[in-house]
Amino acid sequence: MAATRQRGRPAAARLGLGIDVGGTGVKAALVDLSTGDLLSTRVREKTPSPATPELVIDIIVGVVARVEAERPISGDVPVGCGLPGVVKDGRVLTAANIDKAWAGVSAEELVGAALGGRRVHALNDADAAGLAEMRFGAGRGKAGTVLLLTIGTGIGSALFADGHLMRNTEFGHIEYRGKDVELRLSGAARERRGLTWAKWAAEFNIFLAQLERWFWPDQIIIGGGVSKAIDKYINLLQSRAPIVPAQFRNTAGIIGAALAAHEVTAPIEGRAGRLARPAQRSTTTEPSAPPKPAAASSG
Ligand code: BGC
Repeated sequence: MAATRQRGRPAAARLGLGIDVGGTGVKAALVDLSTGDLLSTRVREKTPSPATPELVIDIIVGVVARVEAERPISGDVPVGCGLPGVVKDGRVLTAANIDKAWAGVSAEELVGAALGGRRVHALNDADAAGLAEMRFGAGRGKAGTVLLLTIGTGIGSALFADGHLMRNTEFGHIEYRGKDVELRLSGAARERRGLTWAKWAAEFNIFLAQLERWFWPDQIIIGGGVSKAIDKYINLLQSRAPIVPAQFRNTAGIIGAALAAHEVTAPIEGRAGRLARPAQRSTTTEPSAPPKPAAASSG
């Protein structure tokens, strides 16, 4: 029986376009899906104000055009778009750091149409960042429960159990002293409140302790805007689980969005949770693992 002929994979198998819409910047780049390397400049423009769907999409079209000017993007390259809100079935359901007009909008349809009819996969920005860290960065090959927190304009979260992402956890909206925790402890809130790192960390530790009581993570990855200054506060953070800085600082969202888009467009045999478990070679769908706390769905 002739061996299956090894066909050259089309560019779409290796290349992805990642777009990351944040509270302060809209970024895009081409990503090598097998290494996580950027294959173009990381193009960035400021998030418009107000960050309505129309204005943000204009910016997305602009940044993608700049990427494409550097390197043509064929029609079958998967396109992923991270957004700062709950995203289900391509639709943005909440909008804390972008204009409320996003709520209910299908980002996949709007961005896809604006990009000339490309198929687009939309997901939460922190979930995207988490996927990148789990595949290529600080959580690479890590089994058990891994929690990623991005601390910037807001607080984003991504929760993984044995490499599987539970989407849209939104821990930045847990109540802390009567308000969403991100309104008190995001990077932007720390500056607004004029907190020293020590004071901020003391409060952040209360938030971490709460998350630890619920999820007992085995590793906590800290990323986002505040990760740039991580040396100033990493030793002040306390948790049972080891805390590590995100490996990708401002590219995780781009890389993860491209990875996620590839996941949903790749043939079934090319996915199945491979994103975050490169080191696992289990033939079963669920690798053996110690009992995990029930990851109850969170609002
Ligand atoms: C949003 C999250 C997002 C986080 C970081 C929060 O305000 O609700 O969806 O991940 O900001 O951008």
